[in-house]
Amino acid sequence: MPAPDDEGRRILITGATSAIGSALAEAYACPGVTLHLHGRDAGKLGAVAECCRALGATVYARNLDVRDFAALHDWLTGLGPLDLVIVNAGVNSHIGPAGEAEAWAEVEAVLEVNLKAAMLVTHAVLPAMRARGSGQIALVSSLAAYFGLPVTPSYCASKAGLKAYGEALRGWLGREGIRVNVIMPGYVKSPMCAAMPGPKPFLLSPEQAARAIRHGLERNRARISFPFPLNLGTWFLAVLPAPVALRILRWLGYGA
Ligand SMILES: NC(=O)c1ccc[n+]([C@@H]2O[C@H](COP(=O)([O-])OP(=O)(O)OC[C@H]3O[C@@H](n4cnc5c(N)ncnc54)[C@H](OP(=O)(O)O)[C@@H]3O)[C@@H](O)[C@H]2O)c1
Repeated sequence: MPAPDDEGRRILITGATSAIGSALAEAYACPGVTLHLHGRDAGKLGAVAECCRALGATVYARNLDVRDFAALHDWLTGLGPLDLVIVNAGVNSHIGPAGEAEAWAEVEAVLEVNLKAAMLVTHAVLPAMRARGSGQIALVSSLAAYFGLPVTPSYCASKAGLKAYGEALRGWLGREGIRVNVIMPGYVKSPMCAAMPGPKPFLLSPEQAARAIRHGLERNRARISFPFPLNLGTWFLAVLPAPVALRILRWLGYGA
């Protein structure tokens, strides 16, 4: 549902071709809003862009691999002023069924997409926001950032890094009028989620996740973490002594 203050907003969403990103694009699409949508898959990006145009938004779509750092930087610095940037593109990887290590190429991809590219997006859009003294950057981390899950070590590391980066930026830039929010979803139905091993309690639809994210961003929450029961449980894992947390994870079926 469009909010009255949507008029004239310029919003950028990376990873807008799939579950959470496309639901966010559609949640923000309305007359008066300009959406810069990004993804890798040109066909899926075109379809999401069309859907958002049908909802009344002005849409610019750009497909590129965020691991092409030079192209990513050039694109972002040429866009002009942005009011909200949602850094959502991400990948997952996990250990093998018999405890095999992740392939190094996968570890690199996870760190490059989830952390390095996410930081580059922020780095590229920040100067214009700082010059204007306004803007909002939302970094999509995960509840997996609270405590490392044995089955997804690199993913957890990347999302914990992004969480810490966002928290630091919020403290650094808040007084300049730049809002930085860390988004920590639980399980959301998506191709990435489906590929993850382990139980998926309190599974949300992408639309439910997009609503929770938009609600939290409108209130400028430092940490937009959901759903409540899983947020509480994963937060508690980080508070508990690590051996107890590990025993609980194994008991719940997340152990290696
Ligand atoms: N689903 C969950 O349970 C869950 C939970 C916590 C956090 N998250 C986070 O939420 C975000 C969105 O996840 P999702 O569940 O919607 O996953 P998804 O359906 O797999 O979508 C991932 C998105 O990232 C884009 N992407 C991946 N690698 C890319 C690359 N190298 N260059 C450019 N774009 C790339 C994909 O683009 P293409 O399709 O065009 O390749 C796609 O739009 C991720 O950061 C994820 O870590 C998800």
